[in-house]
Amino acid sequence: MGILNKVTGVFINLFVFAWDFNLFILNILTPSYKPGHVVPAHAAGHALSWPEYTPPKDGDSRSACPMLNAMANHGILPHDGKNITFKDLNIKIRQTFNFAPTFCFFVPKFAADFLNRSYWTDRFDLAELSLHNAIEHDGSLTRQDAALVPDQAKPDLGLVKELLEEATGTMADGSPRLTIPDLSRALSKRRVAAKKTNKDYTEDFFHNIFGSSNSSTMLTLFGGSIADLTPMLTEERFSENWEPRVRSRFGLTMAKFNATVIPVERGVNTKSIVQAEGEA
Ligand code: HEM
Repeated sequence: MGILNKVTGVFINLFVFAWDFNLFILNILTPSYKPGHVVPAHAAGHALSWPEYTPPKDGDSRSACPMLNAMANHGILPHDGKNITFKDLNIKIRQTFNFAPTFCFFVPKFAADFLNRSYWTDRFDLAELSLHNAIEHDGSLTRQDAALVPDQAKPDLGLVKELLEEATGTMADGSPRLTIPDLSRALSKRRVAAKKTNKDYTEDFFHNIFGSSNSSTMLTLFGGSIADLTPMLTEERFSENWEPRVRSRFGLTMAKFNATVIPVERGVNTKSIVQAEGEA
């Protein structure tokens, strides 16, 4: 049974990567959505109008993921963050963030697998996604490490402030923008700091890539806009009139996303941070 599951898993992944590449090509061949039309007509957030924001109440389930928490805070996912089907998560992140259907299947399926549930029939609570060293990992930008703060549901506002202050770029309207080098530098500093403060700190290639991937959504779907990232990372709330900055017809494919994730991770240089701290 175990081997059959593994073989099926390999086939599913190969299928998803081939599908993703096709969508990548289709995005080049088809016109993008017009501004203001990215979120589909029947979905929450259509025409730049998001359902009301209500902060989590005691007993609500929240995860280490700011964007999924925001969806629950706006009632796009159940406000209590509980009993969500993996299939519904797929549909909702597709509609809300214009991620390609490949990503929207791949990540919830990955989550179902690490929770030992069925993607097709089972449900989860948001807090369960924070299982340590599944996707959640040490050295993240918006949460202290799980060994220090076991409840990963709330952002660490000090860390978020440090991240937002790294922005050196400028948006078209003159407001601050987080760039690829800014994000690499923020990740470098955070990994060095986490290693110092958490005696149980762990790091591997796989989780570093997860870290770069999670945070690269800030550059792609949010265009690095500090004005949009501030409410999202501090209150886990969509800014007024927000819509995904990726307007491709078939959404942000994994292939295209890698064009941001790889330079972000390659730009991480923890040695230069340690050296600079030594000289200071
Ligand atoms: C498909 C379902 C998703 C799952 C299961 C998921 C899960 C997670 C988890 C477990 C973390 C914590 C990682 C850490 O330790 O830093 C995380 C962080 C994050 N995720 Fe998600 N996520 C999902 C979708 C998304 C989407 C659609 C976006 C963007 C639109 C997003 C953006 C982020 C960001 C920005 C972080 C914070 C990274 C940091 O603190 O360094 N996630 N996610």
